[in-house]
Amino acid sequence: MGRDKVFVTRELPAAALERLANHCEAEVWGEFRPPDYDVILDKIGELDGLLCLLTDRIDAPLMDAAPQIKVISNLAVGYDNIDIAAASQRGIPIGNTPGVLNETTADFAFALLMATARRIPEARQYIHDGKWLTWHPTVLSGQDIFGATLGIIGCGRIGAAVMRRAQGFNMRVLVNSLESADEIRRLGGEKATLDELLCNSDFVSLHVPLTDETRHLISQRELNLMKPTAILINTARGSVVDPRALYAALRDGEILAAGLDVTDPEPVPLDDPLLTLDNCLIVPHIASASVATRAKMAEMAVDNLIAGLQGQPLPTCVNPEVYQRG
Ligand code: DGY
Repeated sequence: MGRDKVFVTRELPAAALERLANHCEAEVWGEFRPPDYDVILDKIGELDGLLCLLTDRIDAPLMDAAPQIKVISNLAVGYDNIDIAAASQRGIPIGNTPGVLNETTADFAFALLMATARRIPEARQYIHDGKWLTWHPTVLSGQDIFGATLGIIGCGRIGAAVMRRAQGFNMRVLVNSLESADEIRRLGGEKATLDELLCNSDFVSLHVPLTDETRHLISQRELNLMKPTAILINTARGSVVDPRALYAALRDGEILAAGLDVTDPEPVPLDDPLLTLDNCLIVPHIASASVATRAKMAEMAVDNLIAGLQGQPLPTCVNPEVYQRG
């Protein structure tokens, strides 16, 4: 019997690729940009496994072109790039990489919060623009973090990790999520409706997955509810926020600032109006990008792929219902 064939849609840390090579015949896409959809479509008919990224759209037609695929392993905790219902219908297990990126992503959400609150990117630009002529009592004044109120929308593993950081800053934490009021209290927060949270928070941090329900969860109405001094932080998915409504709210001073690790679309086009705003800090989807965490994510994605090739349950499977089929 020949070795299983897999396609890996981007270079991974070397250790993960070496391990993969011991188990199967792996073709790795070596370009910096993702392969086009048609490239994956061309290859998938021959594949036993696919290791893909959040930039790869994996839909039903692609799965239908893959008669022998045993596993699809996504190198991300989020999996909105994959049609999970279609995968489950076809009995294809889908792996993701939860857990290992919680603290790294929470660190980064807090970094965005602090950078926007204290206007660090603007301050850096101020020096580069030759404007630092003297110490001045009001120049580049920002918002206090210590003792402020943080609203966390979505209190799964990453939201809870953000809450732990907020406790070190003596923040009141309002939480809008599916967890019970008791569970949220145990974590140190107060359960709130979405509107209560938006009206009362100095910072609002998003930690929900992208689904039909959360697409444009933060739109004009929600931004209008926020305080004019409030700051929005998004390390979840860009489409959780309506970008046009956000632009208008930031431009018109309906909210003070935003810190975005994720945008809609990605990459953010260079002519996107959000890039013209000093009060909008955008970075290129790097919240989980520490060397150690990205290495762990790659190991997990490889673990899922190998397990799937061997007919074993994936260690972290987003559609375990595939194992209940007869
Ligand atoms: C994820 O894993 O879903 C992040 O967005 C990238 O690390």
